[in-house]
Amino acid sequence: MADKTTPTSTTETGSPAPSDAFTLSVGTDGPLLLHDHHFIAQMAHFNRERVPERNVHAKGGGAFGEFVTTEDVSQYTKAALFQPGAKSETLLRFSTVAGEQGSADTARDPRGFALKFYTSEGNYDLVGNNTPVFFIRDPMKFPHFIRSQKRLPDSGLRDDTMQWDFWTLNPESAHQVTWLFGDRGTPKTWRHMNGYGSHTYMWVNAAGEKFWVKYHFKTDQGIETFTADEAAQIAASDLDYHRRDLFNAINAGEHPSWTLHVQVMPYADAADYRFNPFDLTKVWPHGDYPLIKVGTLRLNRNPENFFAQIEQAAFEPSALVPGIGISPDKMLLGRMFAYADTHRYRIGANYTQLPVNQPKVPVNSYTFDGAMRFDYSPGQPVYSPNSLGGPVADEAAGADPGWHSDGEMVRAAYALRSEDDDFGQAGTLVRQVFDEAARGRLASNVVGALSGVSQPVLGRALDYWRSVDKDLGDRIAAML
Ligand code: NDP
Ligand code: HEM
Repeated sequence: MADKTTPTSTTETGSPAPSDAFTLSVGTDGPLLLHDHHFIAQMAHFNRERVPERNVHAKGGGAFGEFVTTEDVSQYTKAALFQPGAKSETLLRFSTVAGEQGSADTARDPRGFALKFYTSEGNYDLVGNNTPVFFIRDPMKFPHFIRSQKRLPDSGLRDDTMQWDFWTLNPESAHQVTWLFGDRGTPKTWRHMNGYGSHTYMWVNAAGEKFWVKYHFKTDQGIETFTADEAAQIAASDLDYHRRDLFNAINAGEHPSWTLHVQVMPYADAADYRFNPFDLTKVWPHGDYPLIKVGTLRLNRNPENFFAQIEQAAFEPSALVPGIGISPDKMLLGRMFAYADTHRYRIGANYTQLPVNQPKVPVNSYTFDGAMRFDYSPGQPVYSPNSLGGPVADEAAGADPGWHSDGEMVRAAYALRSEDDDFGQAGTLVRQVFDEAARGRLASNVVGALSGVSQPVLGRALDYWRSVDKDLGDRIAAML
C-alpha cells in the first residue's frame, strides 16, 4: 500500500492503476481475462521498448555540455556559434563503429565523436570520429566496408579474413588501418582521445568569402591509450568501461574538455594543392596549414534518461547553419542523405520533435503531420506560397554555400594529382610520427589480427604492409 508521499501509479491514460502485481483472473487459480487492459498495456508496451539499434556506431554513450568560442575567427566564418564569446549548449555522443549495443567499449575500432551544437541559428551537427581520416573515399563503398566489419551470413561470426579481404582490395584504406592498429586504436577512455571533423568543410565569412576547414578537437586530458592486452582484459570484465568512465567522471565533477582548433585553407588553394584536399583518406599536414585555436568544449551534464537523450539522439551532417557548408568530398556528399534517412527509419518521421533533437529556436518548416507529430503552429498554412501570412524563405540567409562544378557525368575516382597515392601518408605516420616502440606495438597488433587469416588474403596483407613501409611489412611477415 502506497503511503501519502509516494505517487500513485497509473494506467497509460492517467487513471489509478488497478495493480502492479496481479493480473485479473477468474478466481485465484483461474484463466486470465483479455479485458484486463492494464495488463495488456504493460505487455504490449514492453514488446515495443526497443527501437532498431544504429546500423553502425550502435554502442556508445554521451553527455551534454557547452562550447565557448574564445578566439576571434570571424574573418573565416559568420556562423553565430563561432563568433567571439558565443556560448552554445552541446550534446556529444561517443561510440564504437562495428560492434552491436552489447559489445565491448575497448575493442580496436575508430570511435565516433558526434557533436550537436544547439545554436541561435538552429542545430549544427558535426558528426566526426577520433581519427582524422577514413577507410574509403567514395560513399558507394560504405555499405560494403561496413558489412566486411560485421558478421558472416552463415555463422553470424565476426571474421578477420573478411576485413583484410576488403582492406587489401581497397588500398586507400591503408592510412586509416595504420592509424587503427597504432596505439590510438584502443583509447583508454573517451575523455583521453581527440575528435576530428575528418572531412573538409566550407566556412563563409560575413563578406561572402569562402574557406576550406578541418576541425580538430584536442583533448585537454591528454592522449592516453591501452595496449592490446589491457583492452582485451577489460573487455573480458567490463563491456561498458568507457560509458561508465564518462558517467562517473561527470558525476564526480570532473568535467572533460577539448580545445577546438581548425586548419584553414584559402578557397583558391584547393584547385592546385599537391593532393586532393577533399580526399578523406588524407590529412592536411600541419606544416602546410597550422592549427588555429577557436574555443573550448566542456561536458558538464549526464543524461537523465539514456534512451530518451542518447539512444534517440539523431545526428546528421546535413544539419548546418549559415556560415558553414560542405565540400566536394564525395564521402561527405554521400553522408548528406544517409543520416536523416536512417533516423526516419530508426526513430520515426518526426524525430526532430523529440526534446533531445529539437532546435532551441522556433521551427517554421512546412513539413506536415506524420506519425507521432505533436508540435504545430496553430493556424499556420500548410502550403507555400500562400496569402495567409505563412512563413517565407529568406533565400539569402538560407543559401547553400557552393562551389564551381562543371563536367560530364561519370563514375570515376578523383582525378590524380602529383601526391595522390594510397600509402604515402600511412608511411609518414609509421616512419615520422611513431617511435620504435610504437612501431613494435603496431606490428604486434597487426600480427594478432592476421593470425587467423587465410590465403590468398594473407599474402595480399603482407604486400599491403610492405607498401606502407618495407621494413614494417618484413617485420610483420617474420613475426607471423
Ligand atoms: P606533424 O608532425 O605536424 O603531426 C603529426 C600528428 O600526428 C600529431 O600532431 C598528432 O596529431 C598525430 N599523432 C601523434 N602520435 C600519433 C599516434 N600515435 N597515432 C596517430 N596520430 C598521432 O606532421 P603532419 O601534419 O605532416 O602529419 C604527419 C602524419 O601524422 C600524417 O601522415 C598523419 O598520418 C598523422 N596525423 C596528422 C594529422 C594532421 O592533421 N596533420 C592529425 C593526426 C595524425 P594530433 O595533434 O591531432 O594528436
Ligand atoms: C553513424 C552512415 C561515414 C561518423 C552512422 C549511421 C549511418 C551512417 C547510417 C547511423 C546513424 C543513426 O542510426 O543514428 C554513414 C555513411 C558514411 C559514413 C553512409 C559514408 C558514406 C562516416 C564518417 C564518419 C562517420 C566518415 C566520421 C568522420 C559517424 C558517427 C556516427 C555515425 C560518429 C554515430 C552518430 C551517433 O552518435 O549517433 N553513419 N557514415 N560516419 N557515423 Fe557514419
